[in-house]
Amino acid sequence: MRKRILVTGGSGFIGSHLCERLLEEGNEVVCVDNFFTGTKYNIKHLLDDTFFEVIRHDICFPLYLEVDEIYNLACPASPIHYQHDPVQTTKVNVLGAINMLGLAKRLKVKIFQASTSEVYGNPDVHPQKEEYWGNVNPIGPRSCYDEGKRCAETLFFDYHRQHDMDIRVARIFNTYGPRMHPKDGRVVSNFIVQALIGNPITIYGDGMQTRSFCYVDDLVNGIIGLMNYPEMFTGPVNLGNPVEKTIYELAEMVVELTGSKSEIVFKPLPTDDPVRRRPDINLAKKKLDWAPEVELETGLRATIEYFDEFLRSGKGKDLVLTDSRPGHKRARVNGKKRTGSDMSKPASRAN
Ligand SMILES: NC(=O)c1ccc[n+]([C@@H]2O[C@H](COP(=O)([O-])OP(=O)(O)OC[C@H]3O[C@@H](n4cnc5c(N)ncnc54)[C@H](O)[C@@H]3O)[C@@H](O)[C@H]2O)c1
Repeated sequence: MRKRILVTGGSGFIGSHLCERLLEEGNEVVCVDNFFTGTKYNIKHLLDDTFFEVIRHDICFPLYLEVDEIYNLACPASPIHYQHDPVQTTKVNVLGAINMLGLAKRLKVKIFQASTSEVYGNPDVHPQKEEYWGNVNPIGPRSCYDEGKRCAETLFFDYHRQHDMDIRVARIFNTYGPRMHPKDGRVVSNFIVQALIGNPITIYGDGMQTRSFCYVDDLVNGIIGLMNYPEMFTGPVNLGNPVEKTIYELAEMVVELTGSKSEIVFKPLPTDDPVRRRPDINLAKKKLDWAPEVELETGLRATIEYFDEFLRSGKGKDLVLTDSRPGHKRARVNGKKRTGSDMSKPASRAN
């Protein structure tokens, strides 16, 4: 039986890969997005599919649809974008979760929540297990996202306990791959775009801080595996790649794989930037039989190929790499200023 599946944030980086996979598996997909950070380019190749539908909608407002499952991914994921309008970020996490949980409750369907490793804040425990409650600043510039996602988890678990709903919560760690937003300031896309356009590669801090990078195909396998797990399994479950790399190592790999002549430069570390982040994925391994398979080099090659194509095709011709963090210069491609395309302009807010 073909399921009709709602994916909020379906035109974003991870959402577009998820929509693609769900369609490949023979489902009907309804992608709901307000195109704040998502783009039509990401789902252009899906638009001819009879079983794919797109609705422009802000999930801070109620939505009435008939579907069999819901994946809730709508939320800007990079600091530049979620700090652009922090009140809206809290709203999408809290009001958006309430609206999607309300829809799932009315329809009596299963709902997935894209939570994040940011719920652990600046962790004092390594690696982070699901039982760890985190070390989060409630009043800093990242709090709209971190606390918003924590509150969303609270809502999911309260709906589960109070209304006996089937929820699936994944805590996603740093994910990368084709269709990342080229201007989101996230380390992988930043380094690749900087290397490809020949700009200096910017490291914040001394580059010794570590991250673990999960390729998007691996993540999508984990998300679908969690959703389709046959028994009740709420999570939260960590999904990420436990292989730790320093930011400096990543910069060196990008320079080597792109063959770039870019130099590596150092800038001050932004507020609340975690020093270390690595998932403990034993729960996902045991319960879902899931572990990442794509090596960093393989994933980086695919991502570099995507950005190379993206820049060559002219889609990035108005690209201005913005970064709100201290000491960062705005980099331009072709010397042009930013335009009002989907890629560069946040959607207008109704309230
Ligand atoms: N990429 C990562 O490394 C990562 C890590 C942890 C968690 N996550 C979570 O995964 C989800 C997807 O992340 P991503 O990297 O694809 O980010 P993304 O910014 O590319 O995608 C988010 C999508 O949500 C849409 N959106 C934002 N606000 C909306 C609203 N009010 N109504 C409807 N749509 C809205 C955006 O337009 C975009 O298409 C997010 O919830 C994010 O918090 C991502």
